[in-house]
This record gives sequence, C-alpha cells and structure tokens, in this order.
Amino acid sequence: MTTLRLAIVGAGPAGIYAADILLRTERNFDVSIDLFEKLPAPYGLVRYGVAPDHPRIKGVVNALRDVLDRGDIRIFGNVTYGEDITLDDLKKHYNAVIFSTGAIRDAALDIPGIDAKGSFGAADFVSWYDGHPDVPRTWTIEGEHVGMIGNGNVALDAARILAKHADDLLPTEIPQNVYDVLKASPVTDVHVFGRRGPAQVKFTPLELRELGDMNDVDVVVYDEDFDYDEASREAIATNKQVKVIDRVLQKWRERPSANGTGGEASRRLHLHFWAKPVEVKTDDDGNVTALVYERTTSDGAGGVVGTGEVREQKLSQLYRAVGYFGSALPGLPFDERHGVIPNHEGQVLAEDSNDIVPGVYATGWIKRGPVGLIGHTKSDAMETVTHLVNDQSSWWQPEDPSAEAIPALLESRGVEWTDLDGWHRLDEHEVALGEPQGRARVKVVPRDEMVKISRGE
Ligand SMILES: Cc1cc2nc3c(=O)[nH]c(=O)nc-3n(C[C@H](O)[C@H](O)[C@H](O)COP(=O)(O)OP(=O)(O)OC[C@H]3O[C@@H](n4cnc5c(N)ncnc54)[C@H](O)[C@@H]3O)c2cc1C
Ligand SMILES: NC(=O)c1ccc[n+]([C@@H]2O[C@H](COP(=O)([O-])OP(=O)(O)OC[C@H]3O[C@@H](n4cnc5c(N)ncnc54)[C@H](OP(=O)(O)O)[C@@H]3O)[C@@H](O)[C@H]2O)c1
Repeated sequence: MTTLRLAIVGAGPAGIYAADILLRTERNFDVSIDLFEKLPAPYGLVRYGVAPDHPRIKGVVNALRDVLDRGDIRIFGNVTYGEDITLDDLKKHYNAVIFSTGAIRDAALDIPGIDAKGSFGAADFVSWYDGHPDVPRTWTIEGEHVGMIGNGNVALDAARILAKHADDLLPTEIPQNVYDVLKASPVTDVHVFGRRGPAQVKFTPLELRELGDMNDVDVVVYDEDFDYDEASREAIATNKQVKVIDRVLQKWRERPSANGTGGEASRRLHLHFWAKPVEVKTDDDGNVTALVYERTTSDGAGGVVGTGEVREQKLSQLYRAVGYFGSALPGLPFDERHGVIPNHEGQVLAEDSNDIVPGVYATGWIKRGPVGLIGHTKSDAMETVTHLVNDQSSWWQPEDPSAEAIPALLESRGVEWTDLDGWHRLDEHEVALGEPQGRARVKVVPRDEMVKISRGE
C-alpha cells in the first residue's frame, strides 16, 4: 500500500486536528505524519493566547494531547520552518505539507501617535501574560487610566487582565513575573473603546458577562450609548447573541456604577461605544497622554459615520486589540492584504497565477485569517484534508522518505529539537511546580530552560 509521508508545520489546534482527521479518514493509503513546531511546547494559542483565567477552555489541551498521545504522530518541537527546515527539505522527504502556522502579531492601526511610548498591541501583551518564550519577559504597567481599542474577545480578555486584582489571578497558570507586575499595577480605570455600537460588537455574551463578575471592579456603561437606531433594534430582535449582549448591558445600566457616577469598587472597567480612535496624544518625551476619538453614529446598515464630535480621554497607556495578523513564510506565497497564505479551500495558490501549488496546503488561521474559535479549526482541517486525500496524483515524489532522514538532517544542522516524550517531561515539570501552591501548573517561560527540561539535560 502507498504511504503518504506528510509534514505538518505548526502544532496549534489546526495542525493537530488536521493530523487527527487524516488519521481517522477512510483512505486507500497508509499515513505517516511529522509535526514541526517552532516552540518547545505544542498547542499554539491555546497555550499562548487563551486567557489564564479561562481554565475550562485551556482544558481543550486534554483533547489535543489525546491526539498526540495516540503514538502515530512524531513531533519535532523547537524547529522553525524557514530557519531550521525549508520547503526544499520538505519536498525531499515528504509527499505533501500542511501549513498551520496561525497568527501571533497585532494587526496595524493607522492613526497618528500609535507608535508612542506606552502604546502597545494587545497580542504582545497577551504573549507576555501567557508566558510566550519569544517575547520580552518584562512589562511595565503605568498610570491609573489605561485604554483598550477594540470590541472583540481579545479586547475583553486583555482589558479584564488589566482590571482584575492580581491575587484573583494567582490560582491560574500565570507565570510568577506576570503576577508580580500585575500585583504592582497602579491601574484604577480601564477604558474600552468600540468604534460601533453595542449591537455591533464582536465579543460574545459569555465573555461580556464575565466582566460583571470581577471582584472589586465595577463595569461602567453610559446611557448616551444606548440610543438605538432601527438597524440596532433589528439586530437585537433577530440575533440571539446580540439580544443576550444587550440584556447584559441593560442590566449594567441599572447598576450604581452606570455613567461613572456611583459604584464602590476600587477599580472600574468602562465600556465606551460609538468611539472611533483618531489620534494618540503624547507629551514632549513621546509618552502616551490621551486618546482622541470621534463619536460615531449608525449609518443604518451596521456601519458608522463620524458625527464630528471629538473627545479626549486622558490615559497613561494605550492597548489596541484590533485583530491579529499572519506572517509570511519563506518560499510560500502570501496575501499581504489579509495576512494569509492564498488558498482555495486549503489548497495553496500561486501568488501571481492563482494556480494550485501541488503538495502544499494550509489550514487554521493562516488559511482563513485570524477569526474564529478553536472548534472552527476542526471544520477547517476537514476541508483541507479532503483536498489532500483527493489530490493523490499530484503529491510530491520525495527523494528520501525514510523516517530516519529528518532526525539526521536536524542533527547535522545542530538543531536541538524536542519530541513527544520531551513535551511530557516539560508538562509534568510545570504541573509539579504548581502543586505546592495548589495551582494547575506554573509555566516555564525561557526557551532554553524549556528545551533543557524537555531534552532531560
Ligand atoms: C488572545 C486569544 C485568546 C483566544 N481565546 C480563545 C478562547 O478562549 N476560546 C476559543 O475557542 N478560541 C480562542 N481563541 C482563538 C483560538 O486561539 C484560535 O482559533 C486557534 O488557536 C487558531 O489555531 P491555529 O492552529 O490556526 O493557530 P495557532 O493556535 O496560532 O497555532 C499555530 C502554531 O504554529 C506555530 N508556528 C508558527 N510559525 C511557525 C514556523 N515558522 N515553524 C514552525 N511552527 C510555527 C506556532 O508556534 C503555533 O504553535 C483565542 C485567540 C486569541 C488570539
Ligand atoms: N474567549 C473567547 O472565546 C475568545 C477570546 C479571544 C479571542 N477569541 C476569538 O479570536 C478571534 C480574534 O479575536 P479579536 O478580538 O482579535 O478579533 P475580532 O473579533 O475581529 O475583533 C476586532 C475588533 O477590533 C475592531 N477594530 C478593527 N479595526 C479597527 C480600527 N481601525 N479602529 C477601531 N476598531 C477596530 C473591530 O471593530 P469592527 O467590528 O467595527 O471592525 C472589532 O471590534 C475571534 O474570533 C474571537 O472570538 C475568542
């Protein structure tokens, strides 16, 4: 029977689900899968994006681990595609490759002053508080008032972490250095700015409701934002999710903290709707001092138009959570506008001709952009794998498909790769670190330490 030697690049949920689906698909060939991951730990944004105070969602890891533990997928961790291994290498040793490299960068926000000192992308902040090994470990939170641009779930995650008292995060897996910085945080007010109205937000009801349950943090909503137009009323009447969001917000309008006039908590999280960012103001040293924003109003079709009324909120720091953005991979076409690998249902397309590139596939956020939940990467993987299976006649014919070729290649390049046993060692080490403190785990952050523990050195 023919054997499909498949490389998958990126061990986030998309890559792991693709491997799982392929192995369970009815087919007339054998499968042998090698999963390459640039970090010494798998699970992508489930480990390095999902908020530490969302342990239930972090629990998805259990299902992903079950896939890896089946024993028929080899993992090569700490191996970066484009540096340690190239497309030519993959062509030499595999019949096909699926790229599932996700997205880790912030999308740009083009307004004057956005590069000021104290202006950050939420993706960088998330990577820091989730202990990503490739970002600086230091972070400074300054001033009492900080801002967050965006009305998606990442904006709510990051705003919640900024607003919460550090001790309420202590039972989670946040690294010690993150706890220390949050514990020293002088923040009293977090301002979240959405450029559209409450009926057009991108965040979901569960994540919104959670804000209202924070200990010693009042949520502040403003009456002026609820003068709904016909389009908003229609959205509330017809969309269940929008209806629930509206119900939650209406309840908060009745709280003493509404309109910023009452409330007893020592911290506040303000939700400002109809607020389009215009400019970041700075002092003479280039530090953020305020966000200038324009009040907007509905255009009647779900969009907004400016009203001309410009306001200013004094801030010491500004974060922007306006979406993530994928990164180009060496040797592959890239759609600079959308931050994805151009593809047709996962079959990668050449940049100029739009022709299918044989043997090369994409799935997850690098395929369809940085939107959607972990579960969506499953249906994504299904689509990509279906094409891979049907494209058998156009697979590459590798020169050396032997299993030993890859470890030998990495060895010859001095790459300190980690494997599944190594991941188990690191996993157990982190869980053991957490045990004395009654915490689920304490993450090991420095990459060299992760590698040493994984490799049992
Ligand atoms: C802050 C945040 C919080 C989220 N919270 C939730 C949530 O609570 N619930 C939910 O359902 N969804 C959540 N999501 C969405 C969810 O994380 C994504 O849907 C999902 O992770 C996308 O999966 P992916 O595998 O495509 O990408 P990723 O998870 O990003 O995985 C990509 C993997 O590829 C690796 N990689 C990248 N480049 C290379 C390379 N050159 N060589 C080798 N490997 C490489 C990366 O290291 C990573 O491990 C959240 C997203 C963010 C940003
Ligand atoms: N707990 C969870 O389940 C969870 C947690 C985190 C992330 N996720 C998922 O991960 C995905 C990515 O989330 P995300 O928050 O990064 O993206 P998102 O849902 O697309 O939200 C992006 C937000 O940024 C705003 N925005 C974009 N450009 C802007 C601009 N120029 N000026 C002002 N605002 C701007 C958008 O406003 P407009 O709508 O007006 O464009 C939107 O409110 C989503 O599918 C999300 O649900 C889930």
